[in-house]
Amino acid sequence: MITYDSPVSLDNEYRPEFHFTPAKNWMNDPNGLLWHKGEYHLFFQHNPAGKKWGHMSWGHAVSTDLLNWTELPVAIPEGEDGAIFSGSAISDGDEIVAFYTRHTESQQTQCIARSSDNGRTFTKYENNPVLDEGKKDFRDPKVFRYRDHWIMCVAQPFDRQISFYKSFDLVNWQHLSNFGPAAAVEGIWECPDLFPLVVDGEEAWVLLVSLNPGGLYGSGTQYFVGEFDGQAFTPRYSTSEPRWLDYGKDNYAGVTFNGEPNGRRIFIGWMANWSDVKDHPDTSWTCQMTVPRLLGLTRYKDELVLTQQPICSETYEILEDIPESGTIELTGFAQVGYNADRKVIFINEYEAPYEPKGDKIHLKVLVDRSSVELFSADGVRSISLAVFPPLGMGRDLTPESHKHIVL
Ligand code: FRU
Repeated sequence: MITYDSPVSLDNEYRPEFHFTPAKNWMNDPNGLLWHKGEYHLFFQHNPAGKKWGHMSWGHAVSTDLLNWTELPVAIPEGEDGAIFSGSAISDGDEIVAFYTRHTESQQTQCIARSSDNGRTFTKYENNPVLDEGKKDFRDPKVFRYRDHWIMCVAQPFDRQISFYKSFDLVNWQHLSNFGPAAAVEGIWECPDLFPLVVDGEEAWVLLVSLNPGGLYGSGTQYFVGEFDGQAFTPRYSTSEPRWLDYGKDNYAGVTFNGEPNGRRIFIGWMANWSDVKDHPDTSWTCQMTVPRLLGLTRYKDELVLTQQPICSETYEILEDIPESGTIELTGFAQVGYNADRKVIFINEYEAPYEPKGDKIHLKVLVDRSSVELFSADGVRSISLAVFPPLGMGRDLTPESHKHIVL
């Protein structure tokens, strides 16, 4: 459930029931994902003054369970000195420290702001910026604790690089290394994240890089599995082909929580695409987030691949014997299922290659008022889609009996 601190137009047909969307106006990237003193914080790119992108500020919502979100007033409004672009947050004792990109027409720099009231209000550091490379495009700082210091990852969008920096005091940053260009480079690189995951007692690091365009359908997110030695990130596998985080159209700029108390690595993405967000229906709010997803690694076809498990009770579950041919699917306002001939899972025309282990196909489907998300139960594939069915159309899906296609 989502609750708001201001009156809400429900825009009945499309306002999500369990995906976060602001009460009103525009939202893009998740920012500053952080667990701090009992609350999960979801800050987000927000235009408090309109339904289209502009006046970038950090909106704010909190949750104690990742399922129910309460929207709070804007946490960091656009300033005289510039707009507040994407970034991250950390706990520093009792305080939250936000790292954001200050954006002006001519320059992007990394700045900090502190909050001593659990993220409700922030005070900008008087000596901002804390990192300035004199560049027009240089953004989306992700800061995390590493041993006895801090690491910052920042995107150099047009160089298709992620730069790593180190600091002991959050204010003085020393350059360590750059990663890239690698794999998908057809668009600009944005919104990096870097974190370790453990699989079978072995640690591997995952680097997320969003790019726009150059994803499967415009904006998309690729990931690299590799090593981070405190200095540089080294991919473990060939980077001639990208690994996609998601095979749908709508999952961009996703990043993970800092400070998760149970050591879980939890991801939220923006469930939209820069290529067609302008075509979303004219509701009082624009755009929703994916549900939070628990990330992991598993071995699949000789590689470690990233897995995602939705934190949400699924709307439908498909658990069927794999047919020799044809599809197992649910139909209605969307078609969702598995195609045994093509060995893909799909939502409408969006497909992800998938070969189940064993003789069952097991899928999880999340259906909300204006989205469908599909996961293979082992988490190795996901497809996320914002969908706006014609007005008056229901959201129920019904099983289509298994269609045998005789070849
Ligand atoms: C990604 C992005 C970020 C930037 C923000 C501005 O969607 O372009 O690189 O910080 O949006 O709103």
